[in-house]
Amino acid sequence: MTTEPTGPTAPTVHSSPLSPATIAVAAGRPPREQGGPVNPPVVLSSTYVSRGVQQPGELLYTRMDTETWHPFEEALATLEGASEPGIVFSSGMAAIAAVFSFVPAGGKVVVPRHAYQVTLGFADDLAARHGVEVVRVDVADTDQVLGAIDGADLLLVESPTNPMLEVADLPVLLAAARERGVLTAVDNTFATPLGQQPLAQGADVVVHSVTKYLAGHSDVVLGAVVTSDPDLAAKVRAYRTLHGAIAGPWEVWLALRGLRTLALRVERSQANAAEIARRLAEHPLVEEVRHPSLPTDPGHERAARTMTGFGAIIGLRPRGGREAADAVVEAVELWVPATSLGGVESSLERRRRFATESLTVPEDLLRMSVGIEDVEDLWADLDRALRSAAGS
Ligand SMILES: Cc1ncc(COP(=O)(O)O)c(C=O)c1O
Repeated sequence: MTTEPTGPTAPTVHSSPLSPATIAVAAGRPPREQGGPVNPPVVLSSTYVSRGVQQPGELLYTRMDTETWHPFEEALATLEGASEPGIVFSSGMAAIAAVFSFVPAGGKVVVPRHAYQVTLGFADDLAARHGVEVVRVDVADTDQVLGAIDGADLLLVESPTNPMLEVADLPVLLAAARERGVLTAVDNTFATPLGQQPLAQGADVVVHSVTKYLAGHSDVVLGAVVTSDPDLAAKVRAYRTLHGAIAGPWEVWLALRGLRTLALRVERSQANAAEIARRLAEHPLVEEVRHPSLPTDPGHERAARTMTGFGAIIGLRPRGGREAADAVVEAVELWVPATSLGGVESSLERRRRFATESLTVPEDLLRMSVGIEDVEDLWADLDRALRSAAGS
């Protein structure tokens, strides 16, 4: 049987291109055959019948490739506007590790000073074990990034950053890196392909923690790499086969099911986040609130220019410092005290509870992932928790 991952062609209706919200629903479906299923099957097989030399596109062994990955890989790549199928991994970190493999021993990588802490930990590990020069930059400071990328093998950007929500000028940074021959990767986990299109803005590679918005229900851990460059795609596939961090079939099936409602979930959680951020900005018990939707936010103008949504993560510093922040986490009853983000349920945590979080992240910063609940219920719970924390 030959089921080579197909180069994604965006589904069209009467030759008209479809909007991203429709692509999320329509891409990666089986052919419309009479009596055929509307959803792709899950194939539970670690190996495939094979004799002699493997022919191009022929399935052989599931660590190398399986048809169960293809519908999700095709749908995600179509959403990101890639001409190569996506490459699914067992976690976002496995996908990021594959991207870091582009940096040779003794090479140089530029990363955000604030980024997912394990991504930064991975870069530090490359420095310690392979003599890689790691330069941390404020991605919102365009001059600083441009001053750092000369001679780099990779510029890895998160935007908005985790957890500080700094917004990078992606079109400018990516164009400058391309001019100087620096490979670029954008972690698009926070924005999702509905909020930001890094490949169209000039990125070589996009990476995702599929665990978050793409799957959307806090029930799987999964990652993906997306690129339009066939050579990079081949390298990432070879890396996956060699290192073996492959996705399980059920996880990929769940991620595709989650992807079907991405537009609805993102629309609702972004609207909730913007409203909650607006109310927090006027709240007497709030020291600082960060969300790119706020006209006063340092990233607002740039996000409005380069993104198609402001995302649903809020940075909140309640009045009263670290103790007040911890008390808010204790007091909420609807918001879930938990790490991770991008699920249908709203959650929050104080990031510096982790000893590994960057020391420039304020001690009292709560990272809030706004979900799809009724906004008034979310607000009532949060407002009550802020008041209770102030009184405790
Ligand atoms: C922005 C970002 N990238 C990557 C990751 C890593 O993804 P995973 O937990 O799926 O390995 C995370 C996890 O929180 C994240 O927030």
